[in-house]
Amino acid sequence: MKLPYAEPFKTKMVESIRLSSKSERQDWIEKAGYNLFNLHSDQVFIDLLTDSGTGAMSDKQWGALMTGDESYAGSSSYFRLKNTIKSLTGFDYFLPTHQGRAAENVLFSAILKEGDLIPGNAHFDTTKGHIEFRKAHAVDCTVRSAYDTESPDPFKGNIDLNLLEDVLKNNPIEKIPVVIVTLTCNTTGGQPVSMENLKGVYHLTQKYGTRVFFDSARFAENAYFIKEREEAYRNITIREIIKEMYTYADGMTMSSKKDGIVNIGGFIAFKEKDWFEKATTYNIMFEGFITYGGMAGRDMNSLAQGLMEATGYEYLESRISQVAYLGKKLTDYGIPVQKPYGGHAIFVNAGKFLSKVPREEFPAQTLAIELYLEAGVRAVEIGAIMADRDPDTKKNRYPELVMVRLAIPRRVYSNNHMDVVAAALSNIYERRDQITRGVKILKEAPILRHFTVKLAPVEKNTE
Ligand code: F0G
Repeated sequence: MKLPYAEPFKTKMVESIRLSSKSERQDWIEKAGYNLFNLHSDQVFIDLLTDSGTGAMSDKQWGALMTGDESYAGSSSYFRLKNTIKSLTGFDYFLPTHQGRAAENVLFSAILKEGDLIPGNAHFDTTKGHIEFRKAHAVDCTVRSAYDTESPDPFKGNIDLNLLEDVLKNNPIEKIPVVIVTLTCNTTGGQPVSMENLKGVYHLTQKYGTRVFFDSARFAENAYFIKEREEAYRNITIREIIKEMYTYADGMTMSSKKDGIVNIGGFIAFKEKDWFEKATTYNIMFEGFITYGGMAGRDMNSLAQGLMEATGYEYLESRISQVAYLGKKLTDYGIPVQKPYGGHAIFVNAGKFLSKVPREEFPAQTLAIELYLEAGVRAVEIGAIMADRDPDTKKNRYPELVMVRLAIPRRVYSNNHMDVVAAALSNIYERRDQITRGVKILKEAPILRHFTVKLAPVEKNTE
C-alpha cells in the first residue's frame, strides 16, 4: 500500500480555541456590524479569514529570532536575509519593508504616475488600491477560464497573452512602467501561473520595452503547482523551479506573511540597480533605513529561515494536500468551489451557492456571515464589497465571480478542523433555498472599504 502523506512536523506548543454558542455569535456579529474583520479573535473557533501572518513558526524560526541582530545599520540579520533571497531568486538588490502593501507603496511611489496602466492577472486588492490611489489603472488580463469555477484549466492564474499584447501595443509604452504578475493569483482562487506563461509575459515586456514584477506572496506554492502540473518540471526541484521563475522577472514585491511563514514582514527585490536606487529614497522615508526597512533584526532572521522551510517539497506537499482535502470534502457535499483547488485557500462560489440573494445584497458576505453563525468559522468575502466602487463612476463594481474564501493558515489546523468547516457549509447548503435576502451597507470608507464597512441584514430571511 502506498503510504498516505503526513505533515513533516509535529506539535510542540498548542493554543486553546473554543466553540461558542449560536446565541453568543448572533450577538457578537451584530455588534461587529456584520463585518467579520470586526470580530474579536476569541469569538472565532476556526479562523480562515486569512493565511497572512497566521502561520505557525518552527522551532528553528523561534531559535533564529533569539539570535537576531538589532543594529540600526549593517545588521547581520539583514545580510542573512539578503543572501537567502539572492540564493532563491537570483536578485542582487533588496529592500526590507514591514509587509507586502508597504513594498507596493514604496515601489509604486518610485515608478507610477497619474494615468499609468498596470496590466496583470487580477491584482490583489491592496495592489489595486495603491495603483488607484495614484490615479493609475489596474488592467485585468487574466485568462477567461479563471472565471469559470468548473473549468479544469490547471493554470487559472495565467495572463491572457493576447490581451496583454493588445494593452502593450495600443498604449504609449511610457504609460506602462510595469506588468504585475501575482503568484499564485489570490483573487481567482490561489490559482497558479505556469512557467510557460511567465516566459511569455517576460518575452512581451522585453519586446515592448517595459518590465515585469512578480507579486510573490505565494511564490513557493506556485512553484509546487508548476512541478505537479507542468510536464517539463516534474523532475526539477522546487528551488530550481523558483530560480527559473525569477529569470523571467525584473523584480518582486513580497508579503512575507504568506510563503515566508512569519507573522509580519515584506520586501522588494530587483534585478537592476536603477529602480532599487529610486525606491531606496522612499523606503527610507516610509519604512526605515535600508538594512532593516520595516523589520526588526530578529524578524529578518526568522524570515530567512522561513523562506527555506517554505520552499521544501515535503512541506509544500502537506500544505497543498490539506487545502485539497477541504476542497474535496466540499465537492463531495455538492458545494460549488473553484476547481482545480488552489494553493492557500478554497474559494466557494457564493453567487451559485446563494443564487436567490440578489448581487446588490452581497451574497458572498451573506454566506460568510451564515458560516460564522453556523460554526464560529471566520472566512472572508471576495465579492462586490471587496471589489469596491469604480474610482471614476463611484458605482459598485459587481465581479463576475463572487466567492467566500476559506484561507488556511500554514501549519496551524488539523484535518479535523477542515471536517468541521465542511460540515458547517454542508448544513447551510441544505437550507440554501431559504436564504433569499442579504445585507446592505450602512457606512463605508472611501477606499479598501471591506476592512471597515458597517452592514445590516436587509430583512429577516423567510426561514
Ligand atoms: N499581494 C497579495 C497577492 C496578497 O495576497 C496580499 C495580502 C498582499 C499583496 C499584501 O500583503 O498583507 O503583507 O500587506 N493578502 C492578505 C490576504 C491580506 O488575506 O490575502 P500584506
